[in-house]
Amino acid sequence: MIGKLFMQAQFITLDGIDGAGKSTNLAVIKDWFEARNLPVLFTREPGGTPVGEALREILLDPATKAGLHTETLLMFAARRQHIEDVILPALERGVNVVSDRFTDATFAYQGGGRGVPLEEIAVLENWVQGGFRPDLTILLDVPLEVSMQRIGKNREKDRFEQEEAGFFTRVREVYLNRAAASPERYAVIDSNRDIGEVRKSINAVLDGHFNRYS
Ligand code: TYD
Repeated sequence: MIGKLFMQAQFITLDGIDGAGKSTNLAVIKDWFEARNLPVLFTREPGGTPVGEALREILLDPATKAGLHTETLLMFAARRQHIEDVILPALERGVNVVSDRFTDATFAYQGGGRGVPLEEIAVLENWVQGGFRPDLTILLDVPLEVSMQRIGKNREKDRFEQEEAGFFTRVREVYLNRAAASPERYAVIDSNRDIGEVRKSINAVLDGHFNRYS
């Protein structure tokens, strides 16, 4: 078989419960790509497009009254535009894409947190995304107490951060279950450690992934 002439661009997502350290570790991922001079686009959900960012405002505003189904549909509405306008075009140009959250968050928050049946979310996932899935999902994990402590430090809590501990317990459980069910796609990172240690783990995951797929 003839080897690949060039590496296919990868779609990587970073996810985890609030307070798991996404911001810090997005910077780690940025550094990794910069050090290797690989083309990459950083984006986020909900958001990433004008309509997606407008939906984000609504979804995160504590004053918004939206039922669990509406909330779920808005997440997927934002996602569809994001995939069409940003993610797929970048991948087609050979640019890797890193998304700060993706569909795992819908399973975890709207499914685990709010109680939308996971199989209903899976139906929407297939409808909105077809077979499109991340090539790699880095799941940052911390114990609930750590998450609660970190969220507690936020001055202004968004609509999700205002939820109680039980909500986040269920969110975390769904993330971990999904990762356990598809270990080939997920890298679970214990981010309740020294930042340097977490950085090493993330670098190792990215090294391994790109060696495997290049
Ligand atoms: P977050 O990513 O934590 O942004 P910041 O780091 O700026 O606080 O905020 C997004 C929130 O939206 C987060 O609480 C999780 C929630 N969310 C869902 O509930 N479902 C989804 O599908 C997505 C993408 C996010």
